[in-house]
Amino acid sequence: MVSIRILTLGLIIVSLAALIPSSSSETDAVKLSLVGFMKKLVGPDFPTQNNNILGWDMATNPCRNQWHGVRCDVFGSVVGIFLSGFRFSGALDAELLCSAESLFLLKLQNNTIRGPIPEEIGQCGNLAILDLSDNRFVGPIPNEMGSLTNLTTLDLSGNRLSGPIPETLGDLTSLLILDLQNNQLTGSIPESITRPTYRASDQPLRFFRAENNRLTGPIPEFNFEMLAKFNVSNNDLNGPIPDGAAATGFFGADCFMGNPGLCGEPLPYSCPQPPVQSPVPSGSPGRTELGLVMMMVSSILGVSLVSFSFRFVY
Ligand SMILES: *[C@@H]1O[C@H](CO)[C@@H](O)[C@H](O)[C@H]1NC(C)=O
Ligand SMILES: *[C@@H]1O[C@H](CO)[C@@H](O)[C@H](O)[C@H]1NC(C)=O
Ligand SMILES: *[C@@H]1O[C@H](CO)[C@@H](O)[C@H](O)[C@H]1NC(C)=O
Repeated sequence: MVSIRILTLGLIIVSLAALIPSSSSETDAVKLSLVGFMKKLVGPDFPTQNNNILGWDMATNPCRNQWHGVRCDVFGSVVGIFLSGFRFSGALDAELLCSAESLFLLKLQNNTIRGPIPEEIGQCGNLAILDLSDNRFVGPIPNEMGSLTNLTTLDLSGNRLSGPIPETLGDLTSLLILDLQNNQLTGSIPESITRPTYRASDQPLRFFRAENNRLTGPIPEFNFEMLAKFNVSNNDLNGPIPDGAAATGFFGADCFMGNPGLCGEPLPYSCPQPPVQSPVPSGSPGRTELGLVMMMVSSILGVSLVSFSFRFVY
């Protein structure tokens, strides 16, 4: 009995200990970084009250709904930032942002955030969901994005991103959703992101949209069976559509249209037949020997056939 009471008391103390930090919050250093991140993000024209933007202020606690758009865990660490549709027109300072090491979810869609996606975004190692869609980000997708190995959702659609889709996105083995539509991306779709065969620890991609870019080259063999959504319309892709795509029956012509160089099902134009093998040049030694052997074999067969039928008839 005594030991059970002690155990219960112990459990209560442990649960209290877990609750206490919820009233605490990030350190002043992290708060300072986040306030700096917000100042840069909103841009010069955003209305501020007493130097306080949407409650983001050193004097208050980011958790407990005091900072607009911030979510914390029970330990008082910032885990989510949701700031969509605020007409922010500044820049993303990822170095300041990523000082919030527990950050798991960042949604900044539908603002007018400008400038590049900084390579320091790779320091936000706990990010699982990153949505920067419908802004005015320019320049390349940084290779450092490939270090965010916990990412399950990456939405960069509706920006002005240019340059190639980094090979390093293939390192994102938890990635389920990759949305790159409506940008100015060039180069080919890297094989690395398709994961046609995947290890048990890897997730196959479920969602790939890259329509309305300037992608070139062939469509690699995705794991189409596992894809719920796939669209590469309005690019400059070429070559045959992989058989796996048509085989699923999910993906119609409207997932591939607007690529003059693409052919095959489900598009209405079939691919040109591969050029017929040109006749064997007469001097080719290997072929000649093979032909000789064939001739000998068939003549021996012919002779024996003739002699066989001869015997049979007479
Ligand atoms: C985007 O944000 C603006 C406000 O800045 C809002 O009026 C509009 O409805 C939002 N659009 C979408 C698609 O959410
Ligand atoms: C990724 O997720 C795992 C498991 O959820 C976690 O242990 C790890 O700290 C996360 N962050 C990084 C950078 O891998
Ligand atoms: C694919 O994208 C094109 C271009 O935006 C669009 O017209 C088409 O409806 C989309 N198809 C599907 C199935 O999403």
